[in-house]
Amino acid sequence: MRVRAPASTANLGPGFDCFGLALEDPFDVVEVERSSELTVEVSGPGAESIPTRPEANTAGVVATEMLRGEGVHVSVEKGIRPSSGLGSSAASAAGAAVAINEEFGLGHSREELVAFAARGEAASAGAPHPDNVAPSVMGGFTVVRDGEVVCLEPPEMDLAVALPDLELSTEESRSVLPDSVALGDAVENVASASLLVAGMAAGDASMVGRGMRDALVEPVRAELVPGYRAVREAALGAGALGVALSGAGPSVVAICEVGDAAASAMECAFAEHGVAAEGFVTEPGNGAEVLE
Ligand code: HSE
Repeated sequence: MRVRAPASTANLGPGFDCFGLALEDPFDVVEVERSSELTVEVSGPGAESIPTRPEANTAGVVATEMLRGEGVHVSVEKGIRPSSGLGSSAASAAGAAVAINEEFGLGHSREELVAFAARGEAASAGAPHPDNVAPSVMGGFTVVRDGEVVCLEPPEMDLAVALPDLELSTEESRSVLPDSVALGDAVENVASASLLVAGMAAGDASMVGRGMRDALVEPVRAELVPGYRAVREAALGAGALGVALSGAGPSVVAICEVGDAAASAMECAFAEHGVAAEGFVTEPGNGAEVLE
């Protein structure tokens, strides 16, 4: 059973640990095969940094939780670079959950698969936050809270992404976050998050973009990504409707009507700060799907 599991961008600015959006590209391919024991194999870019011990691997943890002792060989072909802010470990967990569900005929709902994938993702991220696994399993735009997953079809739009040649682990990126925030900043985030969700529901990409302002997390994390503020300005100057750090970073995502100019502008702005980056354009994508 082979499954294509998409990358995702979490937070989208104000939705820290709640908002996620599936991307059409890049993606992992997860293959599962019945076996006498549980084994995990990882190949592709960045594979050397990913543990293959089942208890330390996101897909391995998912297999353990779903199969409770039954054997399976899980093979993960990475297309999403680890520690890039594009939901790499979450995609592997989501792909494993969907593949195992199909191969073993377990009959779990997509919501239940999000919960299994979230337990796998916790093995890698250190903290359970299902904002990347939800879109990787369900597709589109998702809001998660306390096990509830709401899924909305996003408007038609381009997503320009700048993937800098920097590694930033989720753990490091979370370690700088404050324990408490100012009420005024929290109010601003509620307003932005509400605008963003309203834009998703109304199919209004411009409103989504206007909602991508984060007063709580991004100002602190910006210090971890050299050139972030200039990259953000460059994307907006090139017509982006909204810009945010993608998940825990270091990637940056810009919502655009047409994304090519913003992708190039972000690449150049990173280069001006001495950081090589790859800019590319994709669009909102579907959830994990079985490959024929
Ligand atoms: N919401 C998470 C964060 C996404 O920003 O830390 C990263 O996995």
